[in-house]
Amino acid sequence: MITALVDITEDFPILKRQINGHRLIYLDSAATSQKPQIVIDRLVQYYETTNANVLRSVHTLAEEATTAMEEAREKIARFIHANSPREVIFTRGTTESLNTIARAWGDKFLEAGDEIVLSPMEHHSNLIPWQQLAKRVGAKLKFIELQPNGTITVEAVKQQITERTRIVTLSAVSNVLGTINPIADVASLAHQVGAIMVVDGAQSVPHQPTDVQALGIDFLAFSGHKMLGPTGIGVLWGKEALLEAADPVMFGGEMIAYVDRDDATWAELPAKFEGGTPHIAGAIGLGTAVDYLSAIGMERIEEHSRMLAEEAYRRLASLSDVVVYGPEYPRTSLVAFNIVGIHPHDIAQVFDSRGIAIRAGHHCAQPLMHWLDVGSTARASFYLYNSDRDIDELVDAIEATKRYFKR
Ligand SMILES: Cc1ncc(COP(=O)(O)O)c(C=O)c1O
Repeated sequence: MITALVDITEDFPILKRQINGHRLIYLDSAATSQKPQIVIDRLVQYYETTNANVLRSVHTLAEEATTAMEEAREKIARFIHANSPREVIFTRGTTESLNTIARAWGDKFLEAGDEIVLSPMEHHSNLIPWQQLAKRVGAKLKFIELQPNGTITVEAVKQQITERTRIVTLSAVSNVLGTINPIADVASLAHQVGAIMVVDGAQSVPHQPTDVQALGIDFLAFSGHKMLGPTGIGVLWGKEALLEAADPVMFGGEMIAYVDRDDATWAELPAKFEGGTPHIAGAIGLGTAVDYLSAIGMERIEEHSRMLAEEAYRRLASLSDVVVYGPEYPRTSLVAFNIVGIHPHDIAQVFDSRGIAIRAGHHCAQPLMHWLDVGSTARASFYLYNSDRDIDELVDAIEATKRYFKR
Protein backbone atom coordinates (compact mmCIF):
# COMPACT_ATOMS: atom_id res chain seq x y z
CA MET A 1 0.00 0.00 0.00
CA ILE A 2 1.22 3.50 -0.81
CA THR A 3 -0.55 6.02 1.39
CA ALA A 4 -0.48 9.80 1.01
CA LEU A 5 2.22 11.42 3.15
CA VAL A 6 -0.12 14.15 4.36
CA ASP A 7 -3.67 14.52 5.61
CA ILE A 8 -4.92 15.45 2.18
CA THR A 9 -8.19 17.21 2.77
CA GLU A 10 -7.01 18.85 6.02
CA ASP A 11 -3.82 20.27 4.55
CA PHE A 12 -4.88 20.79 0.92
CA PRO A 13 -8.26 22.51 0.75
CA ILE A 14 -8.52 22.18 -3.03
CA LEU A 15 -8.56 18.39 -2.71
CA LYS A 16 -11.99 18.69 -1.09
CA ARG A 17 -13.38 19.82 -4.44
CA GLN A 18 -15.71 17.76 -6.53
CA ILE A 19 -15.09 17.87 -10.28
CA ASN A 20 -17.96 16.77 -12.51
CA GLY A 21 -19.54 15.04 -9.52
CA HIS A 22 -16.39 13.14 -8.53
CA ARG A 23 -13.68 13.55 -5.91
CA LEU A 24 -10.84 15.55 -7.48
CA ILE A 25 -7.90 13.29 -8.24
CA TYR A 26 -5.06 15.60 -9.02
CA LEU A 27 -2.44 13.95 -11.21
CA ASP A 28 -0.88 17.08 -12.70
CA SER A 29 1.65 18.15 -10.10
CA ALA A 30 4.48 18.20 -12.63
CA ALA A 31 2.69 21.16 -14.23
CA THR A 32 2.04 22.78 -10.86
CA SER A 33 1.54 21.35 -7.40
CA GLN A 34 -1.37 22.13 -5.12
CA LYS A 35 -0.75 24.41 -2.13
CA PRO A 36 -1.11 23.46 1.53
CA GLN A 37 -3.28 25.60 3.81
CA ILE A 38 -0.19 26.73 5.70
CA VAL A 39 1.28 28.34 2.55
CA ILE A 40 -2.05 29.95 1.64
CA ASP A 41 -2.36 31.30 5.21
CA ARG A 42 1.16 32.70 5.13
CA LEU A 43 0.41 34.68 1.96
CA VAL A 44 -2.77 36.11 3.49
CA GLN A 45 -1.00 36.87 6.76
CA TYR A 46 1.78 38.68 4.91
CA TYR A 47 -0.65 40.90 3.00
CA GLU A 48 -2.81 41.47 6.09
CA THR A 49 -0.03 42.35 8.50
CA THR A 50 3.33 43.05 6.88
CA ASN A 51 2.94 44.25 3.30
CA ALA A 52 5.60 46.81 2.36
CA ASN A 53 8.38 47.06 -0.18
CA VAL A 54 11.69 45.48 0.77
CA LEU A 55 15.28 46.77 1.03
CA ARG A 56 14.16 50.39 0.67
CA SER A 57 12.40 52.13 3.55
CA VAL A 58 13.27 52.12 7.24
CA HIS A 59 9.72 52.01 8.61
CA THR A 60 8.62 49.03 10.69
CA LEU A 61 6.60 47.26 7.99
CA ALA A 62 9.40 47.62 5.46
CA GLU A 63 11.90 46.16 7.90
CA GLU A 64 9.58 43.28 8.80
CA ALA A 65 8.94 42.49 5.13
CA THR A 66 12.67 42.59 4.38
CA THR A 67 13.44 40.33 7.33
CA ALA A 68 10.74 37.83 6.32
CA MET A 69 11.99 37.68 2.72
CA GLU A 70 15.61 37.27 3.79
CA GLU A 71 14.62 34.53 6.25
CA ALA A 72 12.94 32.72 3.37
CA ARG A 73 16.14 33.07 1.34
CA GLU A 74 18.12 31.54 4.22
CA LYS A 75 15.70 28.60 4.47
CA ILE A 76 15.99 27.94 0.73
CA ALA A 77 19.79 28.17 0.94
CA ARG A 78 19.80 25.54 3.70
CA PHE A 79 17.28 23.38 1.78
CA ILE A 80 19.64 23.04 -1.19
CA HIS A 81 22.87 23.21 0.86
CA ALA A 82 24.04 26.48 -0.69
CA ASN A 83 27.18 27.97 0.82
CA SER A 84 25.39 31.20 1.57
CA PRO A 85 22.02 32.95 1.03
CA ARG A 86 23.95 35.34 -1.26
CA GLU A 87 23.91 32.50 -3.82
CA VAL A 88 20.10 32.33 -3.85
CA ILE A 89 18.55 34.68 -6.42
CA PHE A 90 14.77 35.02 -6.54
CA THR A 91 13.33 34.77 -10.05
CA ARG A 92 9.89 34.04 -11.49
CA GLY A 93 10.71 30.37 -11.94
CA THR A 94 12.90 27.84 -13.70
CA THR A 95 12.43 29.50 -17.09
CA GLU A 96 13.59 32.89 -15.88
CA SER A 97 16.48 31.33 -13.94
CA LEU A 98 17.78 29.47 -17.01
CA ASN A 99 17.40 32.51 -19.26
CA THR A 100 19.30 34.53 -16.68
CA ILE A 101 22.23 32.08 -16.66
CA ALA A 102 22.36 32.03 -20.47
CA ARG A 103 22.45 35.83 -20.61
CA ALA A 104 24.44 36.66 -17.49
CA TRP A 105 27.15 34.02 -17.78
CA GLY A 106 26.77 32.76 -21.35
CA ASP A 107 26.87 36.09 -23.16
CA LYS A 108 29.94 37.11 -21.21
CA PHE A 109 32.02 33.95 -21.35
CA LEU A 110 31.11 32.10 -24.57
CA GLU A 111 32.73 32.72 -27.95
CA ALA A 112 32.23 31.54 -31.49
CA GLY A 113 33.11 27.85 -31.81
CA ASP A 114 32.41 27.05 -28.14
CA GLU A 115 30.12 24.11 -27.42
CA ILE A 116 27.05 23.67 -25.24
CA VAL A 117 26.21 20.05 -24.42
CA LEU A 118 22.64 19.13 -23.55
CA SER A 119 20.11 16.36 -24.06
CA PRO A 120 17.14 15.85 -26.38
CA MET A 121 14.94 15.34 -23.31
CA GLU A 122 15.19 18.96 -22.15
CA HIS A 123 12.11 21.03 -21.49
CA HIS A 124 11.96 23.98 -23.91
CA SER A 125 12.98 26.19 -20.98
CA ASN A 126 16.32 24.40 -20.90
CA LEU A 127 16.74 24.36 -24.67
CA ILE A 128 15.66 27.63 -26.22
CA PRO A 129 17.79 29.90 -23.98
CA TRP A 130 20.84 27.89 -25.16
CA GLN A 131 19.70 27.93 -28.81
CA GLN A 132 19.43 31.69 -28.57
CA LEU A 133 22.76 32.04 -26.79
CA ALA A 134 24.40 29.86 -29.45
CA LYS A 135 22.97 32.11 -32.18
CA ARG A 136 24.13 35.28 -30.42
CA VAL A 137 27.73 34.19 -29.91
CA GLY A 138 28.22 31.63 -32.69
CA ALA A 139 28.42 28.62 -30.34
CA LYS A 140 27.32 25.10 -31.21
CA LEU A 141 24.73 22.88 -29.48
CA LYS A 142 25.67 19.22 -29.07
CA PHE A 143 23.11 16.62 -28.05
CA ILE A 144 23.74 13.56 -25.91
CA GLU A 145 22.49 10.35 -27.54
CA LEU A 146 19.70 8.76 -25.46
CA GLN A 147 19.51 5.03 -24.76
CA PRO A 148 16.50 3.23 -26.28
CA ASN A 149 14.64 3.47 -22.92
CA GLY A 150 15.24 7.22 -22.74
CA THR A 151 18.04 7.24 -20.20
CA ILE A 152 21.42 8.99 -20.30
CA THR A 153 24.68 7.12 -19.74
CA VAL A 154 27.94 8.70 -18.68
CA GLU A 155 29.51 7.11 -21.77
CA ALA A 156 27.08 8.95 -24.05
CA VAL A 157 27.89 12.22 -22.31
CA LYS A 158 31.63 11.61 -22.73
CA GLN A 159 31.13 11.30 -26.47
CA GLN A 160 29.85 14.88 -26.73
CA ILE A 161 32.17 16.69 -24.32
CA THR A 162 35.35 18.15 -25.82
CA GLU A 163 37.92 20.78 -24.93
CA ARG A 164 35.56 23.31 -26.57
CA THR A 165 32.68 22.52 -24.23
CA ARG A 166 31.89 25.52 -22.03
CA ILE A 167 28.45 24.57 -20.69
CA VAL A 168 26.86 21.20 -19.96
CA THR A 169 23.20 21.38 -19.02
CA LEU A 170 20.67 18.71 -18.06
CA SER A 171 17.39 18.33 -16.29
CA ALA A 172 17.91 16.30 -13.11
CA VAL A 173 14.56 14.61 -13.75
CA SER A 174 12.74 14.51 -17.09
CA ASN A 175 9.21 15.93 -17.06
CA VAL A 176 8.13 13.31 -19.64
CA LEU A 177 10.22 10.20 -19.06
CA GLY A 178 10.48 10.43 -15.28
CA THR A 179 14.15 9.46 -15.61
CA ILE A 180 16.67 10.49 -12.99
CA ASN A 181 19.84 11.73 -14.68
CA PRO A 182 23.39 11.09 -13.37
CA ILE A 183 24.04 14.74 -12.51
CA ALA A 184 27.07 14.36 -10.22
CA ASP A 185 28.94 12.19 -12.73
CA VAL A 186 28.14 14.54 -15.60
CA ALA A 187 29.21 17.56 -13.53
CA SER A 188 32.58 15.98 -12.91
CA LEU A 189 33.03 15.29 -16.65
CA ALA A 190 32.11 18.91 -17.41
CA HIS A 191 34.66 20.17 -14.92
CA GLN A 192 37.42 18.03 -16.44
CA VAL A 193 37.30 20.27 -19.53
CA GLY A 194 36.66 23.48 -17.60
CA ALA A 195 32.97 23.68 -18.52
CA ILE A 196 30.23 24.68 -16.08
CA MET A 197 27.35 22.38 -15.14
CA VAL A 198 23.87 23.88 -15.21
CA VAL A 199 20.99 21.86 -13.79
CA ASP A 200 17.28 22.25 -14.47
CA GLY A 201 15.85 21.16 -11.14
CA ALA A 202 12.18 21.93 -11.91
CA GLN A 203 11.16 18.28 -11.49
CA SER A 204 13.85 17.15 -9.05
CA VAL A 205 13.94 19.74 -6.27
CA PRO A 206 10.25 19.08 -5.34
CA HIS A 207 10.84 15.32 -5.12
CA GLN A 208 14.28 14.58 -3.72
CA PRO A 209 16.83 16.02 -1.31
CA THR A 210 19.02 18.53 -3.16
CA ASP A 211 22.62 19.14 -2.18
CA VAL A 212 24.33 21.42 -4.66
CA GLN A 213 27.69 20.79 -2.95
CA ALA A 214 27.43 17.01 -3.17
CA LEU A 215 26.27 17.22 -6.79
CA GLY A 216 29.24 19.42 -7.59
CA ILE A 217 27.20 21.62 -9.93
CA ASP A 218 27.57 25.30 -10.78
CA PHE A 219 24.03 26.57 -11.37
CA LEU A 220 20.60 25.21 -10.41
CA ALA A 221 17.20 26.48 -11.55
CA PHE A 222 13.86 25.58 -9.97
CA SER A 223 10.29 26.78 -9.53
CA GLY A 224 8.39 27.40 -6.30
CA HIS A 225 4.98 26.51 -7.74
CA LYS A 226 5.96 22.89 -8.39
CA MET A 227 6.98 22.38 -4.73
CA LEU A 228 3.88 23.63 -2.89
CA GLY A 229 4.84 27.31 -3.16
CA PRO A 230 3.08 30.16 -4.96
CA THR A 231 3.32 30.79 -8.69
CA GLY A 232 5.63 33.54 -9.93
CA ILE A 233 8.51 32.70 -7.61
CA GLY A 234 11.53 30.55 -8.37
CA VAL A 235 15.19 30.29 -7.65
CA LEU A 236 18.45 30.66 -9.47
CA TRP A 237 21.24 29.23 -7.37
CA GLY A 238 24.80 29.74 -8.52
CA LYS A 239 28.26 29.38 -7.04
CA GLU A 240 29.14 32.72 -5.53
CA ALA A 241 32.28 33.21 -7.64
CA LEU A 242 30.35 32.54 -10.86
CA LEU A 243 27.54 34.90 -9.90
CA GLU A 244 30.14 37.53 -9.01
CA ALA A 245 31.79 37.08 -12.41
CA ALA A 246 28.50 37.20 -14.36
CA ASP A 247 26.77 40.40 -15.46
CA PRO A 248 23.28 41.42 -14.36
CA VAL A 249 20.56 41.17 -16.99
CA MET A 250 17.74 43.11 -15.36
CA PHE A 251 18.62 46.73 -14.82
CA GLY A 252 16.77 49.20 -12.59
CA GLY A 253 15.83 49.64 -8.95
CA GLU A 254 17.84 48.17 -6.08
CA MET A 255 20.36 46.29 -8.22
CA ILE A 256 22.86 49.14 -8.26
CA ALA A 257 25.59 50.41 -5.95
CA TYR A 258 26.07 53.84 -7.50
CA VAL A 259 24.45 55.58 -10.45
CA ASP A 260 25.66 58.54 -12.43
CA ARG A 261 24.01 60.07 -15.50
CA ASP A 262 26.15 57.98 -17.81
CA ASP A 263 27.16 54.92 -15.82
CA ALA A 264 26.38 52.67 -12.88
CA THR A 265 27.96 50.05 -10.65
CA TRP A 266 26.24 46.94 -9.32
CA ALA A 267 25.01 45.99 -5.90
CA GLU A 268 26.40 43.01 -4.01
CA LEU A 269 24.82 39.57 -4.47
CA PRO A 270 22.01 38.67 -4.53
CA ALA A 271 20.59 42.16 -5.19
CA LYS A 272 22.68 42.48 -8.37
CA PHE A 273 20.35 40.00 -10.08
CA GLU A 274 17.08 41.14 -8.51
CA GLY A 275 16.32 44.44 -10.21
CA GLY A 276 12.84 45.80 -9.45
CA THR A 277 10.37 44.91 -6.71
CA PRO A 278 10.59 41.16 -6.10
CA HIS A 279 7.66 38.78 -5.52
CA ILE A 280 7.96 39.33 -1.76
CA ALA A 281 4.90 37.35 -0.70
CA GLY A 282 5.89 34.59 -3.10
CA ALA A 283 9.36 34.30 -1.61
CA ILE A 284 7.95 34.19 1.91
CA GLY A 285 5.34 31.61 0.83
CA LEU A 286 8.06 29.49 -0.75
CA GLY A 287 9.96 29.64 2.55
CA THR A 288 6.85 28.22 4.27
CA ALA A 289 6.56 25.50 1.61
CA VAL A 290 10.18 24.57 2.28
CA ASP A 291 9.42 24.32 6.02
CA TYR A 292 6.46 22.07 5.28
CA LEU A 293 8.45 19.80 2.94
CA SER A 294 11.35 19.65 5.40
CA ALA A 295 9.04 18.69 8.27
CA ILE A 296 7.80 15.72 6.23
CA GLY A 297 11.35 14.94 5.12
CA MET A 298 12.67 15.01 1.57
CA GLU A 299 13.93 11.41 1.89
CA ARG A 300 10.39 10.23 2.59
CA ILE A 301 9.04 12.32 -0.27
CA GLU A 302 11.67 10.88 -2.61
CA GLU A 303 10.70 7.33 -1.67
CA HIS A 304 7.00 8.11 -2.05
CA SER A 305 7.44 9.74 -5.49
CA ARG A 306 9.52 6.81 -6.71
CA MET A 307 7.10 4.19 -5.40
CA LEU A 308 4.10 5.87 -7.03
CA ALA A 309 5.86 6.37 -10.38
CA GLU A 310 7.22 2.83 -10.50
CA GLU A 311 3.92 1.29 -9.45
CA ALA A 312 2.02 3.37 -12.02
CA TYR A 313 4.50 2.43 -14.74
CA ARG A 314 4.23 -1.29 -13.91
CA ARG A 315 0.45 -1.26 -13.85
CA LEU A 316 0.03 0.81 -17.00
CA ALA A 317 2.62 -1.24 -18.89
CA SER A 318 0.59 -4.37 -18.18
CA LEU A 319 -2.56 -2.96 -19.83
CA SER A 320 -3.38 -3.86 -23.41
CA ASP A 321 -3.14 -1.05 -25.96
CA VAL A 322 -1.24 1.18 -23.53
CA VAL A 323 2.29 2.42 -24.29
CA VAL A 324 4.39 3.87 -21.48
CA TYR A 325 7.58 5.88 -21.98
CA GLY A 326 10.95 5.92 -20.28
CA PRO A 327 12.58 3.31 -18.06
CA GLU A 328 10.61 1.11 -15.71
CA TYR A 329 13.20 1.66 -13.01
CA PRO A 330 14.51 3.91 -11.60
CA ARG A 331 11.97 6.61 -12.22
CA THR A 332 10.22 9.23 -10.17
CA SER A 333 7.04 11.22 -9.77
CA LEU A 334 5.32 10.71 -13.13
CA VAL A 335 4.42 8.41 -15.98
CA ALA A 336 3.70 9.45 -19.57
CA PHE A 337 1.60 7.12 -21.71
CA ASN A 338 -0.55 6.74 -24.78
CA ILE A 339 -3.51 4.54 -25.57
CA VAL A 340 -3.15 3.14 -29.07
CA GLY A 341 -5.46 4.95 -31.49
CA ILE A 342 -6.78 7.53 -28.98
CA HIS A 343 -5.54 11.11 -28.92
CA PRO A 344 -4.14 12.20 -25.52
CA HIS A 345 -6.53 15.17 -25.47
CA ASP A 346 -9.44 12.73 -25.72
CA ILE A 347 -7.95 10.72 -22.87
CA ALA A 348 -7.66 13.87 -20.75
CA GLN A 349 -11.26 14.78 -21.55
CA VAL A 350 -12.63 11.41 -20.44
CA PHE A 351 -10.45 11.60 -17.32
CA ASP A 352 -11.80 15.04 -16.49
CA SER A 353 -15.36 13.77 -16.71
CA ARG A 354 -14.34 11.39 -13.87
CA GLY A 355 -12.68 14.15 -11.79
CA ILE A 356 -9.14 13.15 -12.76
CA ALA A 357 -6.74 15.91 -13.77
CA ILE A 358 -3.85 14.89 -16.04
CA ARG A 359 -1.81 16.70 -18.66
CA ALA A 360 -1.97 15.91 -22.37
CA GLY A 361 0.27 17.43 -25.01
CA HIS A 362 3.93 17.72 -25.92
CA HIS A 363 4.89 18.82 -22.39
CA CYS A 364 7.11 21.60 -23.76
CA ALA A 365 9.51 18.90 -24.98
CA GLN A 366 8.96 18.72 -28.72
CA PRO A 367 12.43 17.35 -29.60
CA LEU A 368 11.74 14.50 -27.16
CA MET A 369 8.35 13.88 -28.78
CA HIS A 370 10.19 13.59 -32.13
CA TRP A 371 12.64 11.16 -30.55
CA LEU A 372 9.74 9.10 -29.14
CA ASP A 373 8.08 9.40 -32.55
CA VAL A 374 4.79 10.66 -31.12
CA GLY A 375 2.99 13.98 -31.42
CA SER A 376 2.00 14.06 -27.77
CA THR A 377 1.36 11.92 -24.72
CA ALA A 378 -0.87 11.82 -21.67
CA ARG A 379 0.97 12.27 -18.37
CA ALA A 380 -0.02 11.42 -14.82
CA SER A 381 2.20 13.07 -12.25
CA PHE A 382 2.19 12.46 -8.52
CA TYR A 383 3.11 14.19 -5.30
CA LEU A 384 2.91 13.71 -1.58
CA TYR A 385 -0.89 13.96 -1.52
CA ASN A 386 -1.33 11.01 -3.93
CA SER A 387 -1.72 7.36 -2.99
CA ASP A 388 -2.07 4.03 -4.78
CA ARG A 389 -5.83 4.65 -4.65
CA ASP A 390 -5.22 7.33 -7.27
CA ILE A 391 -3.36 4.80 -9.41
CA ASP A 392 -6.41 2.50 -9.16
CA GLU A 393 -8.52 5.40 -10.45
CA LEU A 394 -6.00 6.04 -13.22
CA VAL A 395 -6.15 2.41 -14.36
CA ASP A 396 -9.97 2.38 -14.19
CA ALA A 397 -10.10 5.61 -16.20
CA ILE A 398 -7.83 4.14 -18.89
CA GLU A 399 -10.10 1.10 -19.18
CA ALA A 400 -13.15 3.38 -19.34
CA THR A 401 -11.48 5.48 -22.05
CA LYS A 402 -10.77 2.36 -24.08
CA ARG A 403 -14.39 1.23 -23.72
CA TYR A 404 -15.64 4.68 -24.69
CA PHE A 405 -13.56 4.72 -27.85
CA LYS A 406 -14.14 0.98 -28.37
CA ARG A 407 -10.50 -0.10 -28.30
C1 LIG B 1 11.91 20.04 -16.52
C2 LIG B 1 11.26 21.40 -16.54
N1 LIG B 1 12.01 22.48 -16.78
C3 LIG B 1 11.50 23.71 -16.80
C4 LIG B 1 10.16 23.94 -16.56
C5 LIG B 1 9.64 25.35 -16.59
O1 LIG B 1 9.21 25.76 -15.33
P1 LIG B 1 8.48 27.16 -15.15
O2 LIG B 1 7.32 27.15 -16.11
O3 LIG B 1 8.03 27.13 -13.71
O4 LIG B 1 9.46 28.22 -15.44
C6 LIG B 1 9.33 22.86 -16.31
C7 LIG B 1 7.88 23.06 -16.10
O5 LIG B 1 7.04 22.29 -16.52
C8 LIG B 1 9.88 21.55 -16.30
O6 LIG B 1 9.14 20.47 -16.08
